[in-house]
Amino acid sequence: MNIILLGPPGAGKGTQARRLVEERGMIQLSTGDMLREARTSGTELGKRVAAIMDAGELVTDEIVIGLIEERLEKDKGAGFIFDGFPRTLAQADALGDLLAKHHANLAAVIELRVDDDELVRRITARSTCAKCGEVYNDITRPIPEDGKCVVCGGTEFKRRADDNEESLRTRLMEYYKKTSPLIGYYYAKGKLHSVNGLNDIDRVAADIAAILD
Ligand code: AP5
Repeated sequence: MNIILLGPPGAGKGTQARRLVEERGMIQLSTGDMLREARTSGTELGKRVAAIMDAGELVTDEIVIGLIEERLEKDKGAGFIFDGFPRTLAQADALGDLLAKHHANLAAVIELRVDDDELVRRITARSTCAKCGEVYNDITRPIPEDGKCVVCGGTEFKRRADDNEESLRTRLMEYYKKTSPLIGYYYAKGKLHSVNGLNDIDRVAADIAAILD
């Protein structure tokens, strides 16, 4: 089963994708994570990507589609969770073509709905485990008191360079201009399901599970 998690920055896409990986053995394809890996490579491409991401703008369709194409080829036949992809209509069309090429279907597109005030609150309080990427939040999901990650026991945590108010404003603008048209695009295809992303993490996970089952 292949699904898309769609929503603005901070809506909880990564958090829910990790739950689905644990509970259903699906493979998370986060273009944000792939691009963060590329930026640490030190290549010219990595440097260009880093500048775009830190500003909160979208990386070109060509680069992102190329990354997804490689992964679909590598993990043929797996059930994918597309997290943060597609983000433009061109990317959505390309995904449709790639899935058709692999004789695969899109089971559902799950939109996580969260208002802007809550997005700002969540993003500015987010941190992740430096070792395994588990996501924490100073307010709603704090790092345990013993300072160890609940998943891997790691003791180092980091904050993302683009998790500041200025980049977030640009990220939100990019979402409303370029990504939110995908809501109508997938509604017209009969694939769209919306979930109230303001609920707590377990409740959102239960709502997603009900859709997938
Ligand atoms: P990306 O890494 O995809 O970031 P994003 O879309 O901005 O989304 P986030 O990762 O910030 O949020 P999330 O929805 O995963 O929320 P999370 O679960 O962490 O992209 C980064 C950049 O890469 C882009 O700006 C762009 O430059 C580039 N890029 C990526 N993909 C691209 C593409 N396809 N095309 C072009 N460019 C691309 O949760 C956030 C916080 O809230 C956490 O602290 C969490 O603990 C907490 N939380 C989660 N759920 C809840 C809940 N229900 N209640 C309370 N707290 C919650």
